[in-house]
Amino acid sequence: MRILSGIQPTGNLHLGNYLGAIRNWVRMQEEGECFFFLADLHAISQYQDPAELGRAIREMAAALIACGVDPTRATLFRQRDVPAHSELAWLLSGTARIGWLNRMTQFKDKTGKNREGASVALFTYPVLQAADVLLYQASHVPVGDDQKQHLELARDIAIKFNTDYNVELFTLPEPTIPAAAARIMSLRDGSAKMSKSDPSDMSRINLNDDPDLIAQKIRKAKTDAEPLPADPKDLDGRPEAKNLVTIYAALADEPVVDVLARFAGQGFGAFKPALAELMVETLRPIGGRLTELQRDPAELDRLLGVGAEKARAVAAPTLAGAYRAMGL
Ligand code: TRP
Repeated sequence: MRILSGIQPTGNLHLGNYLGAIRNWVRMQEEGECFFFLADLHAISQYQDPAELGRAIREMAAALIACGVDPTRATLFRQRDVPAHSELAWLLSGTARIGWLNRMTQFKDKTGKNREGASVALFTYPVLQAADVLLYQASHVPVGDDQKQHLELARDIAIKFNTDYNVELFTLPEPTIPAAAARIMSLRDGSAKMSKSDPSDMSRINLNDDPDLIAQKIRKAKTDAEPLPADPKDLDGRPEAKNLVTIYAALADEPVVDVLARFAGQGFGAFKPALAELMVETLRPIGGRLTELQRDPAELDRLLGVGAEKARAVAAPTLAGAYRAMGL
């Protein structure tokens, strides 16, 4: 099993990223050979402040390692350090069809009515993502639901390339949407995803929030006046209550029913302090490691450099195969 996934290095890692994606990456290290990278080339499909970007990349790398991505087991690297990503993306853009890209819902969502003013890179973003995956012959790609369509496009590109050039070059990747991945919502609005772009910091838990701030954010989290039910179905229609219970269950690594069995009939006056305590205990070691790693940017760069070297070696034969297949 060869596992590959990427994350854009824009903004801090928050609890939603951790419980939704990164904890799953950490677990997958037990199951196969893992390649994880910082999608800095994807990030620049929208303007990034150059002075900020380098810092954001190191910060995201540090956060991944602090969460348990182990650079001695997984290959952890920056996309821009492996030029084969850009090269293969160009070769594959001869295979990808405009009609396919026109169907991508993320592009439509991101551009809205301003399609004409969007960057070309935002449009061809999924082709670069296909290159990311196909370069490493990845068999499994853990992603959130919103990336499933991009993975299907990568499969379509791989099939068409293999067929057009009559080769068996690319492995068809499977999107693995982790069943256990919790969908974590904003603490202020149970119908919006927890997000780094929400203007209110009270809406999210950052991995480096200190215990007092975490407790305060949980105390102020929006709830309703009802006690907790025993049946998970009775959380439907109570998005804020459902979100806090989901977060508790994910942190405790327990099914929601078990959490409710313990708290049924109790109000948030009892539940919130228990949630805050569990969260502080879970995030404490991560926050500590994160601070430590951020103190040593040279070591982070070294680790990413080692990862990049391994990644370049694995990517090279696929890229060479693509050039050869095309007669270049
Ligand atoms: N587009 C992905 C996201 O925004 C990040 C990403 C880039 C990625 N390349 C990838 C994920 C390759 C999986 C595989 O979440």
